[in-house]
Amino acid sequence: MKIPLVDLKAQYNTIKTDIDDAIQAVIDETAFIKGKHVERFEKSYAEKHGTKHCIGVANGTDAIYISLKALGIGEGDEVITVANSWISTSETITQAGAKPVFVDIDPNYYTIDHTLIEEKITPKTKAVIPVHLFGQPAEIEKINQICEAHNLHLIEDCAQAHFAEFNSQRVGTFGVAGTFSFFPGKNLGAYGDAGAIITNDDDFAVKARMYANHGALVKHKHQIEGINSRLDGMQAAILSVKLNHIDKWNSNRLKNAILYNKLLNGVDGIETPKIHENVKHVFHLYVIRVANREALQKHLAENGISTGIHYPTPLPLLPAYTYLKYTHSDFPVASDYMDKILSLPMFPELKDEQISYIVGCMKKFVTGK
Ligand SMILES: Cc1ncc(COP(=O)(O)O)c(C=O)c1O
Repeated sequence: MKIPLVDLKAQYNTIKTDIDDAIQAVIDETAFIKGKHVERFEKSYAEKHGTKHCIGVANGTDAIYISLKALGIGEGDEVITVANSWISTSETITQAGAKPVFVDIDPNYYTIDHTLIEEKITPKTKAVIPVHLFGQPAEIEKINQICEAHNLHLIEDCAQAHFAEFNSQRVGTFGVAGTFSFFPGKNLGAYGDAGAIITNDDDFAVKARMYANHGALVKHKHQIEGINSRLDGMQAAILSVKLNHIDKWNSNRLKNAILYNKLLNGVDGIETPKIHENVKHVFHLYVIRVANREALQKHLAENGISTGIHYPTPLPLLPAYTYLKYTHSDFPVASDYMDKILSLPMFPELKDEQISYIVGCMKKFVTGK
């Protein structure tokens, strides 16, 4: 049986007519940049979060970068973020002119260890960017309290956690900004690059929208220099169709994760993901830990099962950050996990039989039978 890590075709097949119609409408109206499809998506994405504003942008990386710029963060500033994430979370801090300061991960949940944040705060610290990694919210209430106590901006990187909740509140709504990626493989994925920022702060919203559009809210009236980071009409129209299905898709992901956890329970040497008791986890990725990861990955590949590693090297230990002179001992948990984590196939359309097959292959590997 062949099982991909993510099956975007399976999802497209379930909504083909609506997607094809949406794309055709954009072409018929030549509403390629800005226009009603973008406005409609921004309105419904903000409404679904209960926020005042949603600003569509070109991708999730820009969503973070624009947020930092709109907050005036730059030269001489420090921004605290997490050691295990995709590089967008930290490279945007550098792009804005500030210095990324990394914090190790929580051994249970893989998200930023909030108990280690305060010791990293200096007079230069301006913001904290936690990542709601793998679909699981970080300890966002406690992080928010730290930010409030130290007068720091909180930017939530929600690229992997659309509509996840902490104590029944949606991620992206705790801090000044929630940033989202709609990269095709995300829980809510476009058919190309796309992203968004949500916020309740009117002033921030104006600045972010302006910065994302060459520094102008009105054509040719450039208040500042900005960048070109627009959500395009085609992606917005696709996202509007998919938004109608996201709740169901997220609950299918959770159902799949619960089945994996049940079937893998007690299997020797496999650490299954833990779900924090206060959260709604949306399982962007299903990540286990196993000591002999490379051998298991090879065994699964030989049986047609694709897997991934998120991420093979903690951000601060990448060559890109050699200049910060971090060592493995600065991030003991992330360093310990980097050789053990393995992402198994996870997508809403994954079938119970496929999960049983994957777990069966894993059990054969573990028992040698
Ligand atoms: C945690 C995290 N932050 C930011 C991004 C950046 O999103 P994009 O690829 O849309 O720029 C991603 C996407 O890979 C991500 O996983």
